[in-house]
Amino acid sequence: AAAQRQRIAVIAGDGIGLEVMPAGIDCVTAVARLHGFTLGWEHLEWGSDHYRAHGRMMPVDGLETLAGYDAIFLGAVGVPDIPDVQTLWGLLIPIRRAFEQYINLRPVKTLPGVASPLADSAPIDMVVVRENNEGEYSEIGGRMYRGLEEESAVQEAVFTRRGIRRAARFAAELAAGRRGLLTSATKSNGIVHTMPFWDEVVAETVRAGFPQVRLRSELIDALAAGLVLHPHRYDVLVASNLFGDILSDLAGAITGSIGSAPSANLNPERRHPSMFEPVHGSAPDIAGQGIANPIGQIWSGAMMLDALGYPAAAAHLVAAFEAALAAGTRTRDLGGTALTEQVTAAVLTEIDSLA
Ligand code: NAI
Ligand code: MG
Repeated sequence: AAAQRQRIAVIAGDGIGLEVMPAGIDCVTAVARLHGFTLGWEHLEWGSDHYRAHGRMMPVDGLETLAGYDAIFLGAVGVPDIPDVQTLWGLLIPIRRAFEQYINLRPVKTLPGVASPLADSAPIDMVVVRENNEGEYSEIGGRMYRGLEEESAVQEAVFTRRGIRRAARFAAELAAGRRGLLTSATKSNGIVHTMPFWDEVVAETVRAGFPQVRLRSELIDALAAGLVLHPHRYDVLVASNLFGDILSDLAGAITGSIGSAPSANLNPERRHPSMFEPVHGSAPDIAGQGIANPIGQIWSGAMMLDALGYPAAAAHLVAAFEAALAAGTRTRDLGGTALTEQVTAAVLTEIDSLA
């Protein structure tokens, strides 16, 4: 059984991260209480203000501090006046890599009362599994002849058998527990070294361990089109870091607003804390107005409960926000008029009435 008290590091971050985090904490706290456990929330004031004061997004020993927690609950980071490369490489990417959060998991599902921008209205229910530690997002490469006519840049992608295999295994296991269909994103016709290697290791892994899973390899360009034309045909997608990044935003967009989309950065072995965060960023265009959609943060909280070993509480929380949406409580991005706080209140009411 899961421990009765979990310590959660909270990094609300910047912009609407500060507005949706209280919604996430309140809803997770309420559902935990009904299921007989408590979460200890500890707020870490890291992010862009920390950067302005200290020249770093988090303290020098930030990763050591985080290592002591059961999970990390993140809002969003990023502000217009600090380069995104600082906010990303100063906080999110070091956390994902140091804690071997090699899976980025994004469920993508049609929500009640939330219209898809697509004409085809068949319900969408898929999960994107993105390799989160290697691939195209490497630190290997460089720039030379800066500012001159001859200026050039090289960036190497790094794929390892271990890295591909563990992503494929995670995705196949997930597919086995769902509709049994796994689609692997590739580009082996154009990227002739890393992508054929990806294809081979994915196929080997699935064939060896998951005979019940049907594996289909699709070229990333055709796959992107397929997601727009017939998204209901997909079940689990597995993709490299870059392809997965793009596919998960696309997959999120076809179900409605980015504001509702959750994600988990998982260390599946639980040797290190995992990190749970909405897909969206700090949305400076709407920050401070109280209109941010908190569903992405709340749903990320449900994913955190699931990963910590409380699947019933997680399902309860998902059912509660789905009920609130179905009853018509929606923020502006979903075509409604509700404020962040009103959505939170509606979800809290549903948590109680579903108890
Ligand atoms: P964004 O996700 O912040 O915003 C994109 C658009 O979606 C905006 O029009 C925004 O108003 C809307 N939106 C996003 N979340 C919403 C919500 N919860 N409710 C209602 N509307 C919502 O992406 P953008 O504008 O590209 O990036 C803004 C900043 O956030 C940048 O500094 C970027 O680097 C950072 N960012 C951080 C991420 C993270 O912390 N994991 C992820 C993505 C971006
Ligand atoms: Mg992205």
